Amino acid sequence: MLAVIVRTADVRDLPGLLRIEEECFGIEMFSADTVRSFIERNDTFVMVAIEADDVVGSAMCMISEERQEGRIASVAVLPGSRRKGTGVRLLEECERKFLRFGLEMSTLEVDVANGAAIALYESKGYEINGMIRDFYGLGRDAYVMQKPLHPEKTGISIRTS
Ligand SMILES: CC(C)(COP(=O)(O)OP(=O)(O)OC[C@H]1O[C@@H](n2cnc3c(N)ncnc32)[C@H](O)[C@@H]1OP(=O)(O)O)[C@@H](O)C(=O)NCCC(=O)NCCS
Repeated sequence: MLAVIVRTADVRDLPGLLRIEEECFGIEMFSADTVRSFIERNDTFVMVAIEADDVVGSAMCMISEERQEGRIASVAVLPGSRRKGTGVRLLEECERKFLRFGLEMSTLEVDVANGAAIALYESKGYEINGMIRDFYGLGRDAYVMQKPLHPEKTGISIRTS
């Protein structure tokens, strides 16, 4: 089995990231401008999962230092690469980066009908802390899921590079 590497994305990853967007989110995909902005802004970042030089997964994140909170806007893995732990790896790297920013909480919204994503987040210790009606459009509600980021409890070590 080929090794999957997870690292911070740069603009050279844009074509691979857009493929993930198209294949995983279809008409709800982020635009190229939005993905580029996630890569380039100081208060956002993107993690990519790379297998054999191809982008097979991504996670888009936002940092709110004011609220001491990291927000995960999306996690996605290409259909052919799922159920191999890549989603977990992406989440772990997002959390590691949040910790490096000194953030205390990781927060995300997820479609109440997205069982795979809810199972992924629960497997990493996220809990449902609320619901936002019509978050994704009329009749499509979102759960708010959160996880406190305590390095001593999560076992996450903070690398400096
Ligand atoms: C959600 C998603 C990112 C999971 O990626 P993945 O690489 O398959 O996840 P992992 O292999 O790390 O799974 C970790 C755990 O999550 C849970 N899980 C993941 N997919 C699941 C599924 N389809 N059904 C049930 N549980 C699931 C399981 O507990 C799994 O552990 P296991 O394989 O040992 O049982 C992927 O299904 C995806 O890209 N979906 C489309 C995009 C999306 O909806 N993203 C989330 C909202 S932004």
